[in-house]
Amino acid sequence: MSKKTDTTRRAIVGATLGVGLGIGSLSLLAPVISLRPKKVVNPEDEPPKEGDLLVFATGDKTGQEITIDDLPLGGPEVLAYPKDPQSGVVKSGEKNNLVLLIRLDPAELSEEVKQYAADGTVCYSAICTHLGCAVGEWDAQRGLLLCPCHKGLFDPRKGAEVVGGPPPRPLPTLPIKLENGKPVVAGGFTSPPGVLAGTEAAGGSCTI
Ligand code: FES
Repeated sequence: MSKKTDTTRRAIVGATLGVGLGIGSLSLLAPVISLRPKKVVNPEDEPPKEGDLLVFATGDKTGQEITIDDLPLGGPEVLAYPKDPQSGVVKSGEKNNLVLLIRLDPAELSEEVKQYAADGTVCYSAICTHLGCAVGEWDAQRGLLLCPCHKGLFDPRKGAEVVGGPPPRPLPTLPIKLENGKPVVAGGFTSPPGVLAGTEAAGGSCTI
């Protein structure tokens, strides 16, 4: 056997052993990897999902399910959290789960808003897209949602588009439907709720 052939054979054997050992090491690692704790999401932090009910987030009725009769026609808005109807868990652990409900004349809603609304009632994220304050005030004169922190104004008839102040984008919509006289979540947010990455670092944040 030539010297060259012998060297090649040793290289092949070495590579085969290396692969074998590699596979062996990986199979040894597998149980360790599977033992790593999985990321557990607290049920209170889960995002809203189809079928969730909506409960009062503030006031005397905190935690009670909201009915359409609780929403005054023409505003103001009511702050709410989603509630899992099966487990009864109110999803108040995640700041971006705070939403607002407002009942308006269906004839005033834009065509796009109508597809996410139920009988004139619309639901938006209540976390201001500027620096994260709660959009919890109502400008009754102009019929606009008001964020008190820096006077951000949103038009609930037109998809919560920004009509005043510094917010960089509309409030995301949470589609709803009506079931037994109650507004119920019909799907996820149309865009990510809250302050988008980068904005907070640049300008600080508000507290609710
Ligand atoms: S946080 Fe709402 S306008 Fe600044």
